[in-house]
Amino acid sequence: MTASPPPGSLQGQRLLLCVGGGIAAYKALELVRRLRDAGAVVQVAMTEGAQQFVTPLSFQALSGQPVRTSLWDSAAEAAMGHIELARWADRILVAPATADLLARLSHGFANDLVTTLCLATTAPITVAPAMNHRMWLHPATQANIATLRERGVQIIGPEDGPLAEGESGPGRLSEPEQIVAALGSAAAVPPTHAGELAGLKVVVSAGPTYEDLDPVRYLGNRSSGKMGFAVAASAARRGAEVVLVAGPVQLPTPSGVKRIDVRSAAQMREAVFGAFPADIYIGAAAVADYSPRVSVQNKIKKTGETLTLDLVRTPDILAEVAAQTQGLKLVVGFAAETENVAHYARGKLQAKRLDMIVANQVGIAGGGFESDQNAMTAYWNGGERDFSTAPKTQLADALMDLIVERMNA
Ligand code: C5P
Repeated sequence: MTASPPPGSLQGQRLLLCVGGGIAAYKALELVRRLRDAGAVVQVAMTEGAQQFVTPLSFQALSGQPVRTSLWDSAAEAAMGHIELARWADRILVAPATADLLARLSHGFANDLVTTLCLATTAPITVAPAMNHRMWLHPATQANIATLRERGVQIIGPEDGPLAEGESGPGRLSEPEQIVAALGSAAAVPPTHAGELAGLKVVVSAGPTYEDLDPVRYLGNRSSGKMGFAVAASAARRGAEVVLVAGPVQLPTPSGVKRIDVRSAAQMREAVFGAFPADIYIGAAAVADYSPRVSVQNKIKKTGETLTLDLVRTPDILAEVAAQTQGLKLVVGFAAETENVAHYARGKLQAKRLDMIVANQVGIAGGGFESDQNAMTAYWNGGERDFSTAPKTQLADALMDLIVERMNA
């Protein structure tokens, strides 16, 4: 009996890597190695520009396969025609994807081998952009990216940081291991779900909030943000435009997700409403219920034996979102409870006028806030669904299935 590949692995996947013409092409060499280590069978096609930076021979040595460089190579066409190659692929990965390549892909050009392969395939396409930050931020590039995302193309990166020309900004190709990890999680979404949220905007809140008492102390909680980040990643893999409003957590930004970092409940509220209009709101953050009436400028001194904090209620972001329903198709909340989970969760479903609430019991071993796995139950008017203990990434995918189901009910 053969063991099934672990979830997220690329075992046996036929991956066609299309290399674009940018300086980051050198990183694609390492990428081939990493993809093969993850179990993928890799074939490489290069644009003309890519060949200015790296030789086909390098890719041939690393992939162990002949490299395709032109539509007009009759010997290569005789061995495997380009349409055949497009059909061979289980997935096409374009890395690095230059601004020019993104523009040609978004407009459906077929004026070289790489764009022809991308147009001729029915396999899912992933692009990992890399370019100068001004080119990335240009409205033309952003429009092209939006078109590709709407079409269900997975976008990985780019990352923020130092660029080849000595400048700094968003435009760096994601690291090979990040690309491989993102491909692995994309492989976990069945193709039937791949583009189902295309054209929709999803806003997710995640993590804790910190309410400052003074310049060094704050009131916080133990939320890790892992569930919210996994939900945002799952929505992005289904083609949604995702805005993730994150409290203070040290988690990598899921690919294809726009992240807004905030600290306090008040900042979270502002960022959430700033991200609207949207189609779906998922409130996975553990928002502080109370905040100090005043955050003082100087460190509070220990003077008396006791200290009384004067706290005021924070705005209930979720309830406010649900009350203003304009354009929202679905509002989902989370409830972390230590007892009587179903009772309290259903109470919040009604009180906050939500479409769905997802409840879990915290304070039990092997699940809850800081854990990588959890068990939970979703409640809506007239129904409920149990999700048994599983990694949060898997739960997030199962939950997104239910969210899509309820939205279309
Ligand atoms: O009332 P409770 O805090 O248990 O409700 C949890 C749900 O409400 C979560 O989805 C959380 O994100 C949201 N919430 C909020 N704003 C608050 C408190 C909770 O959005 N101030």
